[in-house]
Amino acid sequence: MIEGYEQDVADAEERLAAAADLDAVAGIERDMLGRRSKFTEAKRRLGELDAGERAAAGRRLNEARGRVEAAVAAARGRLAAADRAERYAAERLDLTERLDLAERLRPTERLHPAERLRLAERLRQQAVSSRGRFHPVTQARDRLEDVFVGMGYTVAEGPEVETAWYNFEALNIPDWHPARGSFDTIFVDLGAPEEVMLRSHTSPVQIRVMEKRKPPVYIVAPGRTFRTDTADATHLPAFNQIEGLAVDRNITMGDLAGTIDEFVRAFFGREVKSRLRPSYFPFTEPSAEFDISRPDGSWLELGGCGMVHPNVLSNCGIDPEEWQGFAFGFGIDRLAVMRHEIDDIREFVNSDTRFLSQF
Ligand code: PHE
Repeated sequence: MIEGYEQDVADAEERLAAAADLDAVAGIERDMLGRRSKFTEAKRRLGELDAGERAAAGRRLNEARGRVEAAVAAARGRLAAADRAERYAAERLDLTERLDLAERLRPTERLHPAERLRLAERLRQQAVSSRGRFHPVTQARDRLEDVFVGMGYTVAEGPEVETAWYNFEALNIPDWHPARGSFDTIFVDLGAPEEVMLRSHTSPVQIRVMEKRKPPVYIVAPGRTFRTDTADATHLPAFNQIEGLAVDRNITMGDLAGTIDEFVRAFFGREVKSRLRPSYFPFTEPSAEFDISRPDGSWLELGGCGMVHPNVLSNCGIDPEEWQGFAFGFGIDRLAVMRHEIDDIREFVNSDTRFLSQF
């Protein structure tokens, strides 16, 4: 015989209202609605009743279960809100405190000299601990610039929105070229289709520099680049690269290898080695990928490089018979991730000062 559940529901509601945390709620839920609960047992026994009684008993049972379920959900909501409020309180930054301290330190305030000294020291400490700093990616970019400036390079820049000429064509990637597909380009809805885009690499800066300056040219060009990648632990749709370009007489692949080696040692430390692996880029010939050695003996891919393709020089009005060059490009964010052993690159764009203030 299935009786009413008023008392059970009332008990459950009372216990849930008093539950101190989410674990307690889960325990009560198990007691009341779990496999060994009174409700579940009663449901199993519905079959023993005759058809006339069964419908009414089932309805009463479902109604009671529904009320307990609602009470469970309400308790969860209450505790989650409390948890959030507690976290907000714990992580709150008091931006007025410094102002208060500064107010009290005004010469017109009558303070005991020892108290004044103590408050002044607190204010000084707060100022030191909350002093701003550069983003780790900016720090990496600055250090890279320093290393290359030390090697005689100057820093160049180009626009983040580019035309197909600079991002592809002048770099020896005509519109029919399959390499266009490999750049996962984000196009801008302007002009002819696929004519204007967010630059998918920093290589267009090579073209912009060579159009304006006659060789010898030694530049690095750091900057933001964009691809249709979905953000995950190792990718961001907006990331940073640094491009290098050297154009001079009698430049060889040996100069390229030596420059990369020198840079890698200056940036990562004397013990780190570099190597080139044959690869393909339409704008360099021959092309290579370059890796750096890790402490465990394995190699990590850093970027692409090669001898500037004669067509690229010609496209900029530079005679490839007279001048040769090498170019390289690699990701700055990746480098910062590696250097600081960060396990999710998205941390760089969360703007969480607790993360950023570590660097
Ligand atoms: N632009 C290439 C990329 O983004 C890298 C590269 C730069 C390769 C210069 C060769 C020379 O993949």
